[in-house]
Amino acid sequence: MPILKLNPMPKQFIDPYGRVLSYLRLSVTDRCNFRCYYCMPEEGVNFVDRKQLLSYEELEFLLDVFAEYGVNKVRITGGEPFVRRGLVDFLSRISQLKGLSEIAITSNGSLSFAQIDALADMGIRSINISLDSLDKKRFFEITRRDKFDEVYASIMYMIGKGFEVKLNAVIADGKNTQDILPFIELTKHHPVSVRFLEEMPFNGTGTFEVPTWNHVVIKGHILNHYPTMQRLTSEKSSTSVNYQIPGYQGTFGIIASYSRTFCGTCNRLRLSATGELRTCLYGAPALNLRDLLRSGASRDEVVRELILAVAKKEKDGFEAEAIQAQTPKKSMSFLGG
Ligand code: GTP
Ligand code: 5AD
Ligand code: SF4
Repeated sequence: MPILKLNPMPKQFIDPYGRVLSYLRLSVTDRCNFRCYYCMPEEGVNFVDRKQLLSYEELEFLLDVFAEYGVNKVRITGGEPFVRRGLVDFLSRISQLKGLSEIAITSNGSLSFAQIDALADMGIRSINISLDSLDKKRFFEITRRDKFDEVYASIMYMIGKGFEVKLNAVIADGKNTQDILPFIELTKHHPVSVRFLEEMPFNGTGTFEVPTWNHVVIKGHILNHYPTMQRLTSEKSSTSVNYQIPGYQGTFGIIASYSRTFCGTCNRLRLSATGELRTCLYGAPALNLRDLLRSGASRDEVVRELILAVAKKEKDGFEAEAIQAQTPKKSMSFLGG
């Protein structure tokens, strides 16, 4: 009798809705040198003790496990990732990991030129920068830090070095709606992608109002001024719906982060700096990987727990949110964005 050879099951994290989770958003710190109003209160933020953070060794071990199970893209987030000492060396080590084909970073852009050069040297090409206004005074009111010039200079330096730069602007009534059109004009002469985001309830205070400038209103406003705007095709898992003004070098996008229109194609897992694994930004942690590792768990046990966590991923951000008792009080700097 011929021996029947079965192909081994591919090692992947697949959730109950058939979504393959291949993109990890990894927060390396909950600290930040800015105080954006939509992320944390101006004062009285309790950052965690450094011992509670996953160490770089623990992170490298976990990334190796994630990569073995098909995670090929990792986005390093914070807080502000560059406030953690040793980050550039850590990035350089993980850029050698087999299986990880893309390392991207989300930063507030106050990073130094030396760090940008080091990123380019290790092959990191994609960086997302939070920039909510092109006006210095409004930038200060939003971030509570007088750093516009440094951030803008970093952005221009990165564009000049050939990085794929995306700018994230959280749009809110009374804060920066007057910046939307100037941001689009920025794409005329610069190969940059500006994304307009809806505000989400992760400001660390527990109070929140549903955004009036939602994705529909933002799009209507832009269309009014740029009737020739053209929709672009995007990756299936993209959170942003992307557009371009014909003849402009850059593009822009709208991210319905509160309206959550893109959950059906979600491919993301999130790991907080303290080891909390979330299968949805709006949900409770499914597992604490730091505690699991520090209890002496083997690699196989870690894999088993990850598979169990993925098997419980909710259908969408509304379902995940509903399971939590009250308005989330967590700050985005803790959740990792
Ligand atoms: P790329 O597509 O790799 O460029 O990344 P990204 O746009 O997901 O990353 P970035 O860190 O720039 O995040 C942009 C905004 O999208 C942030 O406000 C994120 O919190 C939001 N976002 C990213 N992933 C999700 C998600 O799974 N759910 C929701 N609701 N918002 C998300
Ligand atoms: N709502 C929407 N976006 C937010 N970000 C941080 N906090 C919030 C919030 N409450 C964005 C930042 C950053 C990205 C990771 O998340 O602009 O670019
Ligand atoms: Fe810092 Fe980002 Fe939060 Fe602003 S949104 S305070 S830059 S972590």
